[in-house]
Amino acid sequence: MSRNAATGGITRPTVSPVEFHGMLTSAPCMLELFEIIARVAKTESTVLVRGETGTGKELVANAVHECSARADKPFRAINCATLTPELLASELFGHVRGSFTGAVRDHDGLFAQADTGTIFLDEIAELPLVLQSQLLRVLQERSFVPVGGTKSQRVDVRLVAATNKALRTEVAEGRFREDLMYRVRVIPIFLPPLVDRKGDVESLLWRFIDNFNAHGLRQIESISQEAIAAIRDYSWPGNIRELQNLVEYAFALGTGPVLKLKELPPEFRGVAPTVRRVMGDERERIRQALEQANGRKADAAATLGMSRSTLWRKMKEHSL
Ligand SMILES: Nc1ncnc2c1ncn2[C@@H]1O[C@H](COP(=O)(O)OP(=O)(O)OP(=O)(O)O)[C@@H](O)[C@H]1O
Ligand SMILES: [Mg+2]
Repeated sequence: MSRNAATGGITRPTVSPVEFHGMLTSAPCMLELFEIIARVAKTESTVLVRGETGTGKELVANAVHECSARADKPFRAINCATLTPELLASELFGHVRGSFTGAVRDHDGLFAQADTGTIFLDEIAELPLVLQSQLLRVLQERSFVPVGGTKSQRVDVRLVAATNKALRTEVAEGRFREDLMYRVRVIPIFLPPLVDRKGDVESLLWRFIDNFNAHGLRQIESISQEAIAAIRDYSWPGNIRELQNLVEYAFALGTGPVLKLKELPPEFRGVAPTVRRVMGDERERIRQALEQANGRKADAAATLGMSRSTLWRKMKEHSL
């Protein structure tokens, strides 16, 4: 990046980021991950995408499908956290006519629709226990029975799942079946948080600014020293989604060619209460994980589903 002589602000970096199936990055750790995704995609193995909120888990699931031999076959996605167990069962496995009030005709579920393709189960940790045993059966026997049906249907799907929770902790606390965890977590892909992607805050920031500049409401040409300092210091609990939101906020509320500190969301101009609460929860989770692991950082990091470097950084952040 360089200084803009006219405004005194910071202008865009000269090197543009690499793009992989909608994911942009300048960070070496992400470039390595793109290679892993491309390689893993070619197999038939079940993939579990792990990462904090807003790190791009959905984009990774899409990339796995698009890089696979199933790319021209159906891709079906569902968020396991958003439906009641009954509706979710019917969405996943379909139902036969008359199986419940309102089931006026047979309905194909997502597994049937995704046959020969890929199914993406987002937030799999939230899958109700009754459905976990049914999913286990699909993975073991490659067949399922629609709700209210008697005949099992064969199906050929590749499973990709995502979660922002450590499945091991879910198993330990009785919320997730251990046998299913081993079936789902065949190839775990861990998406690093934004702060661990060197150079990405700035390159993504500029990419999002360019996208909004194209709408013509405002043209941001540089970022003030104070604003960039606040942006660089921030911990990004909402990751890339939060960075997108920052840009949207600045375009909605600010004016002129320089992005200024006062045009950033409140948490960048002093700690907002919600951020402090999230940070407090996180400190407690980390403290507990370290205690359970008798201080062994590698074990605590595995439990928390974060890399050792992230754990180390967060321990410093929380003075642990
Ligand atoms: N590397 C990236 N480059 C550009 N945009 C990205 C990147 N990663 C994520 N995004 C964008 O950030 C937003 C969040 O991504 P996504 O929904 O895939 O995250 P997620 O990990 O599934 O989050 P959640 O856990 O909250 O569901 C999306 O708008 C996505 O397009
Ligand atoms: Mg998601």
